[in-house]
Amino acid sequence: MSVKKVLIFDSGVGGLSVFEQVIKQSPAAQYFYLFDNAYFPYGELQADFIVRRLKRLLSVFVETHQIDLLVIACNTASTIALPFLREHFAIPIVGVVPAIKPAALLSKNGVIGLLATPATIDRPYTAQLIKEFAADKQVLKMGSTQLVKLAELKLYGKQIRLADIAAVLAPWLSLEKVPDTIVLGCTHFPLLREEIARCFPNKVNLVDSGNAIAQRVAQLLEQTPVEQRENNHQAYFTQAFTEQQSDEFNALKRSFLSFGFSTLQCFALDD
Ligand code: DGL
Repeated sequence: MSVKKVLIFDSGVGGLSVFEQVIKQSPAAQYFYLFDNAYFPYGELQADFIVRRLKRLLSVFVETHQIDLLVIACNTASTIALPFLREHFAIPIVGVVPAIKPAALLSKNGVIGLLATPATIDRPYTAQLIKEFAADKQVLKMGSTQLVKLAELKLYGKQIRLADIAAVLAPWLSLEKVPDTIVLGCTHFPLLREEIARCFPNKVNLVDSGNAIAQRVAQLLEQTPVEQRENNHQAYFTQAFTEQQSDEFNALKRSFLSFGFSTLQCFALDD
């Protein structure tokens, strides 16, 4: 049986929260991780730019590395680009969208907070999910690039302050009815799961889509051998780190190694 090659894509380190779940359920595949630091953060980009960028960047990567399955581990990209990418590529594509449905099932007080990027909270796709699965709930939406950047800093080995996360969540924390269930609608946010939970006065459900994505990937790969293969997982970024940033690069590389990758290197398109 040949080893399947899976590409996990995100604008930054957020896809690692998805990768962590995916590899647990499908340990026999070979994983590639690509993050587009040249255009990070995606939550601030125009929708049509994201679609064009992904078609071009992913076409070259998929071709170069002979990828069998593509995981768009980014809500901001998935909620806009999935139909275009599925039309463009012949390989199966798994996307990640905010976990509104499970959150609606979990909430007891009927107030759900959707925490995502500024782009994701405004997508028609997101509005449709809310209409379909949480029409009888109050859904509060918060778009935050600040939180995305804090998750990046954490994996760049920097100290992050709980007060900065609490400041982002403050509008919800001061409500009379604080949401009891939060949708982590950006793949960066599960990387701050503990910190986010600590900001809430009472127990809060933090729901993400990682496990659902992992199940879908396992189904598509249709291979569940018992043995984990030798680690040859590779991670790539699209914009080279400058010399001044080499400390950051080294810290980031350590994070990628701790998630199970063996390399972190540049994959730049010649523009
Ligand atoms: N991780 C991405 C997501 O799930 C987006 C972060 C960004 O703004 O680049 O939406």
